[in-house]
Amino acid sequence: MPLNRLLLAVLTLLPLVVLGQTRGRNPYSSEKDVAEGRRLYLLSCRSCHGADGELGGNATRLASKFRRHGSSDGEMFHVINNGVAGTAMPGSHLDEDSIWKVLAYVRTLENRPVDEGHSAPIEVVRQAPASEPVSAEQLLHPERNPGQWLSYSGNYQSHRFSPLAQISAANVSGLQLKWIFQRGVKEKIEATPLVVDNIMYVTIPPNDAYALNAESGDIYWEYKRNLPTKTAPCCGQVNRGFAISGNLLFMTTLDAYIIALDRRTGRLVWETKMADYKEGYTGTHAPLVVKDKVLVGAAGGEYGIRGFVDAYRISDGSRVWRSYTVPGPGEFGNDTWEGDSWKSGGAAIWLTGSYDPDLNLTYWGTSNPGPDWNGEVRKGDNLFSCSVLALDADTGKRRWHYQFTPHDTHDWDAVQIMVLVDREYEGRPRKLLVTANRNGFYYVLDRGTGEFLHAKAFVKQTWAKEIGRDGRPVVVPGTDPSPTGSRVWPSSTGGANWWSPSYSDASGLLFVPTLERSSTFFSDVAAYRPGMLFEGGFRRFDDAGTYGAIRAFEVLSGNTRWEYKMDSITRAGVMATGGGIVVGASGDGRLLALDAANGKELWKVNLGGAIMAGPMSYLSKGRQRIAIAAGSGIFVFGLPE
Ligand code: HEC
Repeated sequence: MPLNRLLLAVLTLLPLVVLGQTRGRNPYSSEKDVAEGRRLYLLSCRSCHGADGELGGNATRLASKFRRHGSSDGEMFHVINNGVAGTAMPGSHLDEDSIWKVLAYVRTLENRPVDEGHSAPIEVVRQAPASEPVSAEQLLHPERNPGQWLSYSGNYQSHRFSPLAQISAANVSGLQLKWIFQRGVKEKIEATPLVVDNIMYVTIPPNDAYALNAESGDIYWEYKRNLPTKTAPCCGQVNRGFAISGNLLFMTTLDAYIIALDRRTGRLVWETKMADYKEGYTGTHAPLVVKDKVLVGAAGGEYGIRGFVDAYRISDGSRVWRSYTVPGPGEFGNDTWEGDSWKSGGAAIWLTGSYDPDLNLTYWGTSNPGPDWNGEVRKGDNLFSCSVLALDADTGKRRWHYQFTPHDTHDWDAVQIMVLVDREYEGRPRKLLVTANRNGFYYVLDRGTGEFLHAKAFVKQTWAKEIGRDGRPVVVPGTDPSPTGSRVWPSSTGGANWWSPSYSDASGLLFVPTLERSSTFFSDVAAYRPGMLFEGGFRRFDDAGTYGAIRAFEVLSGNTRWEYKMDSITRAGVMATGGGIVVGASGDGRLLALDAANGKELWKVNLGGAIMAGPMSYLSKGRQRIAIAAGSGIFVFGLPE
């Protein structure tokens, strides 16, 4: 090794070795280094990651730009050298030079040209039994038939509440497994199943779908979509499930299509391209059916996309309207982006919206602006990122907006489920929207006008002195990411995240999976390139003192009534029921039933895999079931019969 090269390597590694820091630059990049890196990679890494880094599943695809543990040279060196505790990723026996060469090879995987994609359904296995088309009336009033589960959050108000009461605080400890549906998927399942007439419709990664007998778990049909190999989901090959209307099921896809399947056969009825996946657009959330349209948006907030909410005609998949979440030139809010920064402004959509039929407004939370951590290149408030948008359901016209985090630099997406609540507020009945935001504050808004009514921190937060009377946060100076790092509560994961909350109108409590954690945020250069990760820095999680909790908030004040603390990070949604229980999950794979009145643990069971989905409930032959995705399957529970 030439002396200057050696010196460079020593200098680069010195801080790593001495301080144990996760920074540094790769001294190896020549073709020869890459070839040597590939040789070593094939020997040490192929078994889990595949020859070209193409294997996904638990090992995370290396042939992608998303890095769960950081994408700087230093962070990746650290991961390859030390492994990831608690996972199959082993620490390496390779010496430092070899690790850098392996990393030089891994870098080439990130930039592979994107393959052309196509899609095709596979054969029908068996037809599902005939059933009545799902009507607009049923979607408006799911509570009239609580044995079904017709939408991602259970109703238009996004309550994820089941009125079913057979399983109760008194008998939940006797819950038994009824069946498991397994398909050997290695990726996490984030979908909420739908159940209509004793048929369960569920999606699993990447974009496969099934109709199952909801009593037995037997398969009626299977749909598999052939995807291009290089789609760009930021955070796994995620799909959160179907929407349903009439005899059609709707799903968004990783290559940014919206598709409609026939309920009886799983046959593809239509598909419409929403946007170009090669530019970083992708589809992950369950769509929302409103009258004759299906509403959906594109994810890709880490890829500098320009977000939007679309409405497609249910009958033929043609687009009726598009409402951009980042305003273009001449539109209101465009001047909140410096220069051309709006073009890669993010504000993606990756969770299902809510709907108020009386106001005919739909509510959509938007993601972070792009790039995530470097706000210097996009000075201004960056509307409508980290906001809720109230859109006219017929036209897509924006009625009002509220921005939770102006000029976000901490990745505090505001996609969290918007819960619609009708209650008396300060002496008069009001139509409210409540949400526990990723930025650590709990908000109450008037959902007719967007008026800000109240906000309160619900986890430890250090970035805002308060949310002022005008609804704007009073930001603490020095909390922006910096080249040397700045530590802030909550972490980039947020005080709450996409994990669904649940609202019980009878008790006036909103149950929310929450997280106490901080991150140290680093800024770095940010240059937009289509289809490439656009982050402008990185963050490190500070895990001391971290814990997850399911909390019950009094819906108007946001005051905590109780908390169920866990020493892991919950990543599952919760569901309250008419039986007085709250179903949720801990970060270590335990399904939980809590007493809705006081948070006491009534029952738990280890499902042997990560639980990263929301629970739901339905009736099978008149008997209550609780279902949730965990590990590589769907688990269904009921009382002894
Ligand atoms: C025994 C299986 C196994 C082997 C061998 C293995 N890995 Fe991994 N690797 C994993 C798993 C599992 C993960 C995901 C860890 C997690 O859940 O965070 C992972 C994660 C990673 C990550 C982090 C990705 C991210 O999202 O941040 C990198 C980088 C990586 N591996 C590189 C390598 C390299 C290079 C080698 C060979 C020197 C290697 N791995 C060998 C299983 C393996």
